[in-house]
Amino acid sequence: MSNQRIYLPFAQGDRTLSLGLQPLRVEDWIEIDDQFVPYLQRKTELLETNYAEVFASLPETQSAQQEVLHLLIDHLLRYFPEQYDRTSATITVKATEQTWNIADFSQPLDLAGRLVQEDFCLMQPSDRGYSLAAASLCFPLRWRLLEKIGKPMMQIHDPVPNYGEQLGNPVDRLFDRLTVDRPVFRVNWSIVETPELYLGHQSHSNIAPSELSVDDLWVRVERQTLRRLEQSRWILFTIRTYRYPLTILKEQRDLAIDLRSIVQQLSPEMQIYKNLLPIRETLLSFLEAAIAPIV
Ligand code: HEM
Repeated sequence: MSNQRIYLPFAQGDRTLSLGLQPLRVEDWIEIDDQFVPYLQRKTELLETNYAEVFASLPETQSAQQEVLHLLIDHLLRYFPEQYDRTSATITVKATEQTWNIADFSQPLDLAGRLVQEDFCLMQPSDRGYSLAAASLCFPLRWRLLEKIGKPMMQIHDPVPNYGEQLGNPVDRLFDRLTVDRPVFRVNWSIVETPELYLGHQSHSNIAPSELSVDDLWVRVERQTLRRLEQSRWILFTIRTYRYPLTILKEQRDLAIDLRSIVQQLSPEMQIYKNLLPIRETLLSFLEAAIAPIV
């Protein structure tokens, strides 16, 4: 297992409202790092205590869910053979010593989510575009699965300022054109006041803005992949959440410059949406200090 990968997507300029897609090599679909055990343990806890918030599915999604589970298990055994043991009936995650009986899962996507750090969203084609048909989503960034399940892309993104005008049609076209052999990925960023992975809808810090210190701030990055499923023709969307202390940018002056200019240029609506207002002052003064030449 390697250390955490660092994705800091600010250098591309303000891509907040762009597709920002890059080709994905199939072998890079899933990422396992030294946070594997804590991520999987957090998932297990959430599935035990909060199932209805972190797993949801519509009827008649079982066969597409099954397709995802098979695809994932094949992938894991091929690219991470040292991490998993497979028998005809079970799969074991060696690092957490968890063994799952595959037939016990009437919702195969639930098992898929327990095997890796990624979250999974299954998108079903319909006459309203692609809609969210099933998901194992333990690490949402301030949204609730219960409020999005069954909804099409346009409605899912309703709270995102200007999504409808700027992204809605390009995303729909991309979904129509996505092919099995050409998966893609994009990287999304936020600054948050906690390292907690599960951020339900109303997650706000208890820290008053005036007491907030730079050590309370984290860069939260989602590496999102999209791939077409061969049999069902549905689309699988994965979200791999990373979080790094903001102070990582102390050593990265160019990135600090990029992030400062993005924060300064974001529209007021986007700043509100991204929850930047309560942390803006602490964030910008940290970035100023990181950018200032050392004398
Ligand atoms: C190419 C595909 C996609 C693009 C370009 C896209 C774009 C975006 C953007 C720009 C945001 C705002 C994030 C921020 O800046 O903090 C967002 C939020 C979100 N996206 Fe997507 N997205 C895509 C695919 C999907 C898919 C497949 C789902 C399926 C579940 C999804 C679910 C969401 C949700 C739930 C939010 C948060 C909405 C809220 O605040 O209520 N996205 N997306």
